[in-house]
Amino acid sequence: MKQLLNFLIFSFLLIACGPQERISKSVFDEVNSSMEAKKLSDSDITQEAMIWGDSISSEAQQKLMESLHQAVSEKGTFGAVAFCDVNAGPIVKDLSDKYGVSIRRTSTKARNQANLPTEEELPILEAYQYNAENGIENNPNIQKIEGGEILLYTKAIVISSEFCLACHGSSNEIEASVLSKIDSIYSEDMARDFNVGDLRGMWSLRLPKKSVVNRL
Ligand code: HEC
Repeated sequence: MKQLLNFLIFSFLLIACGPQERISKSVFDEVNSSMEAKKLSDSDITQEAMIWGDSISSEAQQKLMESLHQAVSEKGTFGAVAFCDVNAGPIVKDLSDKYGVSIRRTSTKARNQANLPTEEELPILEAYQYNAENGIENNPNIQKIEGGEILLYTKAIVISSEFCLACHGSSNEIEASVLSKIDSIYSEDMARDFNVGDLRGMWSLRLPKKSVVNRL
């Protein structure tokens, strides 16, 4: 089991370290000299990235959940589907702007096709999926990408309660009117037939190493 996981992570590193080193030398030098001045090790930086990523993703999750619960109680599930379409984006974008970090949710079974995983994200999602299927705990993860100048923070998103099933459950669990509303907005929807406890996807945050170093 562990071997497969290592293999997935290893393949990911191969991809990540390959063709994408497009960080300018001046940014690279600046970050390095700042690290040296503060005597920071790679593990200090990874640890701080983990703390920052946990904090931003928890804030994003909380804001989305508050708005979603409010929308469902004010407009019903039917009205809230349209709300998600319009408002999930801006809530996440506000936080992206606030922290200068790209934030998104991604899933191999996406409702919105814009949320399908990138090449960088796919092996991580597959590793989370493998863990979920084999009863292994999913912890947040940091991967160095773009020549190490971006720290990709990811955290599993699980179907936490029956509340989610009103829009992500089986066709018996999703009301007919809600189902047709979903179909009319998301013609290629794959985000159905989930059960409570299933892996739904993951948070994916691109933390610039420079910003992480500045926090230390
Ligand atoms: C009122 C209906 C509704 C409920 C309830 C709901 N969702 Fe969603 N969910 C949506 C819609 C609509 C989208 C597509 C949003 C977009 O366009 O980005 C979505 C997208 C997502 C995504 C992004 C990936 C994708 O498929 O595009 C995740 C992850 C997600 N939902 C998880 C959850 C979880 C976990 C819960 C329960 C805590 C939940 N949702 C409850 C309607 C809902």
